[in-house]
Amino acid sequence: MIRSVVRGIGSALPRRIMKNADFEGMVETSDEWIAQRTGIRQRHIAADDETTASLGEAAARAALANAGLTPDDIDLIVLATSTPNNTFPATAVEIQNRLGMRHGFAFDMQAVCSGFVYAVTTADLYIKGGLAKRVLVIGSETFSRILDWSDRSTCVLFGDGAGALVLEAEEGQGTIADRGVLAASLRSDGTHKDKLYVDGGPSTTGTVGHLKMEGREVFKHAVGMITDVIEDVFAQTGVSADTLDWFVPHQANKRIIDASAKKLGIAEDKAVVTVHLHGNTSAASVPLALSTAVADGRIKKGDLVMLEAMGGGFTWGAVLLRW
Ligand code: UT7
Repeated sequence: MIRSVVRGIGSALPRRIMKNADFEGMVETSDEWIAQRTGIRQRHIAADDETTASLGEAAARAALANAGLTPDDIDLIVLATSTPNNTFPATAVEIQNRLGMRHGFAFDMQAVCSGFVYAVTTADLYIKGGLAKRVLVIGSETFSRILDWSDRSTCVLFGDGAGALVLEAEEGQGTIADRGVLAASLRSDGTHKDKLYVDGGPSTTGTVGHLKMEGREVFKHAVGMITDVIEDVFAQTGVSADTLDWFVPHQANKRIIDASAKKLGIAEDKAVVTVHLHGNTSAASVPLALSTAVADGRIKKGDLVMLEAMGGGFTWGAVLLRW
């Protein structure tokens, strides 16, 4: 059986760090409120010359270097983003151009914060279907561009950044002892659109719009949705909370991460948490967390890793892979 095995990982963050205290003169908030309610202490904010394409390119180059590969070795780029450089063409194609790739193909995926989980699952199917041997899967976002900076209930929560993986086809045995993507569970439900959306778009207002969120409502649904898809992956594979090595969740709120891990019986020290460093970077949050835990030596070759995310749509999903 063909497996999609991780060959390399990389990330990129804007130069500027914005601390919680930096909001104190802008909106009625405090470092204490933000840290207590969310776990966030700082986030990176893109300068004018830092875009979804430039951050995605930097993360892609880092992942390629980590894999010991060049753009010539890549067949496909899948970019998870909700903040593309332009309405069209796909920012993935712009990244392809920036990498000097004159072969293969590239496209964007839009599943908001679940984008990276959707993109890994999609890349895995392209590899299994024989359409690509090596895929760059990127999550890159500049949510700072779609925030209403006068709305304290949203502007303190999000940040910018990018992460990337190189996946490569490898023959496996078809068991969960294989390296690579082992199982996935994806869901969406449009009845929740009004709880988290952007109030603009090319076909409606003709503007980019700003992010709107009923945070408490999203919070109410998050834990149940996250645990449902992870339990589905557990059921598909026979893997349990005990046999899992690492839990790499979407980084929206430390309280959501803790509650999900607790409900699933996943030990606290198996959860990779980077929300204090990056805030919520939407589709970039899972690869940024993965990248952090690989760089500091926690995630090692052969480890069983569960990725999960939940976001606007609603969309949600989980992917199990062996590093
Ligand atoms: O990535 C996509 C998925 N998104 C998420 O998972 C986000 C899910 N939601 C959350 O993480 C949380 O709901 C928030 C962090 C957004 C909010 O935390 P909460 O504990 O649910 O607070 P709340 O919305 O119930 O607000 C509590 C109070 C309110 O004041 P009143 O009505 O009690 O007087 C808010 O107006 O906190 C107030 N508030 C703030 N106060 C200081 C809201 N934002 C702020 C702020 N600083 N930045």
